[in-house]
Amino acid sequence: MRINYSFMMDEFLKDRGIKPEHLKTIEPEIRKSHEKIEKRYYPELEFLDLPFKDVSQIKELGNWIKEKASHFVILGIGGSALGPRVLCDSLKKFHSPSVFIYDNVDPKTLDRILKHIKLKETVFNVITKSGTTGETIASFMIIWDLLKKTGLKPEEHLVITTDPEKGPMRKIAKEYNIKSLPIPPGVVGRYSVLSPVGLLCASVIGIAPEELLEGAAEIHKRCSQQEVFKNPAYIFGSLLYLNDIRFSRKINILMPYADSLKSLSEWFCQLWAESLGKEGKGLMPYPSTGATDQHSQLQLWIEGPDDKVIIFIRIEDYGTDRQIPVIFNDIKEFALFGGHTLSELIKAEQESTALSLMKAGRPSMTITINSINASSIGGLFHFFEIATAFTGLLYGINPFNQPAVESGKIFTKAMMGKEDLKEQAEEVKKIREKSKYEV
Ligand code: PA5
Repeated sequence: MRINYSFMMDEFLKDRGIKPEHLKTIEPEIRKSHEKIEKRYYPELEFLDLPFKDVSQIKELGNWIKEKASHFVILGIGGSALGPRVLCDSLKKFHSPSVFIYDNVDPKTLDRILKHIKLKETVFNVITKSGTTGETIASFMIIWDLLKKTGLKPEEHLVITTDPEKGPMRKIAKEYNIKSLPIPPGVVGRYSVLSPVGLLCASVIGIAPEELLEGAAEIHKRCSQQEVFKNPAYIFGSLLYLNDIRFSRKINILMPYADSLKSLSEWFCQLWAESLGKEGKGLMPYPSTGATDQHSQLQLWIEGPDDKVIIFIRIEDYGTDRQIPVIFNDIKEFALFGGHTLSELIKAEQESTALSLMKAGRPSMTITINSINASSIGGLFHFFEIATAFTGLLYGINPFNQPAVESGKIFTKAMMGKEDLKEQAEEVKKIREKSKYEV
């Protein structure tokens, strides 16, 4: 993996780009953030150890699932679902069990999944670090009940991935003898894809967890260096931070040029938004896909407000290609394409988009990977996680909590009739009565 950040620099952006001396001005913050990472200032920095963990228990369970199941259904939300989805979309082998990820509690989606699967050929993986997430609890309860009513034993159809000691899901796993995997205590949802959260799914879909971790370990080495110009995660975070504080560019668009990486954009958006958006600070991530969004968003990015940075992911080798036939040679618009390949075209489109943004004075960076495989995906996960934690530290915020999400959860529980939240339920009632602006 390499990052070309030339089109972030002043040399290309006519007074609207970063100068090397700008990076110098934030050297003290970079140094402090690096020290915090080194010293594990937050216990949640434990995610840094994930590339070096033993995966034998995960593989054993993965084999058990592969042998017995035609369907594998994940119940989890947020960081407990988005990572596994990236793995399935980008790496799934065709002969592995079909995988469904039920994250939203949309009843229609559950119907669709249940119509497709045969319960007795299915293993459900309940993933929740806390064990207290409403959406996951509700879907788990439905599945547990269904299994029982169908005469199936829950312990033969469930795997619980949760905290090693704490939370109600751990209690259930112990009490009912359900197979389980531990999420290391310090690893929080959005930084957990390289823990059993993602690795069990990887194993079920035919990907060796070691390969994901190998790519992550390689990135780990490069991203452990203090020198900002040598550390891809630090340069990435520092440039986006500088674009915010110097030019008020607060929107960060991730645009991989591959359909199979669409969900990587969504995973990144959760990581970036939930980690950095606090105390009135934060950068707004936006998921995009090239070349599709050139025909949807690019006009705005080039001529609209100068408040964005585009981050491209370029793929050198798609692992397959197709030549455009040399036909209709007498029509000049067609003749242009004949003889070229689709991968040549999509790569030219990525480069042209970066060039046209640059010509308009709009910044972009290009992350290039050689191909989409377990090692490069593992590397991207670890890279973005380190970059996010580092950027949060630059802003002086805690990149691992999400205090603002709690108030919504409290109202939901109050609406569900939680005994000790009567006051909040009353508040909801009053607000509903007052909310009369409607047409
Ligand atoms: O990143 C996070 O910590 C959150 O988005 C969680 O992943 C999400 O809220 C689900 O939490 P849990 O895994 O505890 O069910």
